[in-house]
Amino acid sequence: MKKPGEVFEDSRVYDPGIEAIVPRYDELHDAILNVPPQERTDEIRVLELGAGTGELTAKLLTRFSESSVLAVDHSEKMLAEAERKLETFGDRVDIEQGAFPDDHPASSGEFDLVISSLAVHHLSAEEKRTLFDAVFDALVPGGWFVNGDVIHFDAPHLETLSDAMIKNWVRAKGWEEEEFMERWQASDEYDDPDTLTDQLVWLRESGFDSITSIWQYYNFAVFGGQRPEDPR
Ligand SMILES: C[S@@+](CC[C@H](N)C(=O)[O-])C[C@H]1O[C@@H](n2cnc3c(N)ncnc32)[C@H](O)[C@@H]1O
Repeated sequence: MKKPGEVFEDSRVYDPGIEAIVPRYDELHDAILNVPPQERTDEIRVLELGAGTGELTAKLLTRFSESSVLAVDHSEKMLAEAERKLETFGDRVDIEQGAFPDDHPASSGEFDLVISSLAVHHLSAEEKRTLFDAVFDALVPGGWFVNGDVIHFDAPHLETLSDAMIKNWVRAKGWEEEEFMERWQASDEYDDPDTLTDQLVWLRESGFDSITSIWQYYNFAVFGGQRPEDPR
């Protein structure tokens, strides 16, 4: 039985597999890392929710050379891959098994940046709102939350369009979608995406400012906001 978000039965095939079924996967990661206002050499403390095999984590640690990251995920299998991949970054990365929003974020006012990629859409609407509140508390004043995720369209024809786009993407990678999903034992029966509009409103209700959606490709979007600076 797979945990929500593991996607593949065998986590060793996650990296090549996810690129075949998530269009513009690297571009989505780049968009997440382009949002924080900090300089590349700033010492920033980062929390990553749903780090998986550590792809985004490695890109963050490379781009922000003085950053340190707490990378959290509920999957032992995914974290085993992340541990191998992130070993080279030494004590700049802590890997912890745990679930959000239950176990993480677990502190307040600690992080300059909270990021997540393709993970939060597994939560129900209520859980997403609880998570946004907890992320707000976990940030330092002025800190940013950036989420790159699957979103839902209210208009059924746009959902159909997104499905067709993904099928075409998989085909362009040399597979028929059904054949791919079967061969790689891939599925995500736990998906529960919400609309971008709802999530931007929930961020506002959690107290975030500068709420923005910076990138979108069909039903994938990168969005977030800033915890306001404390008033002087
Ligand atoms: C599709 S993968 C994305 C991994 C990585 N962020 C990336 O961009 O490739 C989703 C990850 O989120 C994790 N995940 C999903 N729901 C979670 C939750 N509630 N708590 C902790 N981890 C979760 C899964 O175990 C999985 O590793």
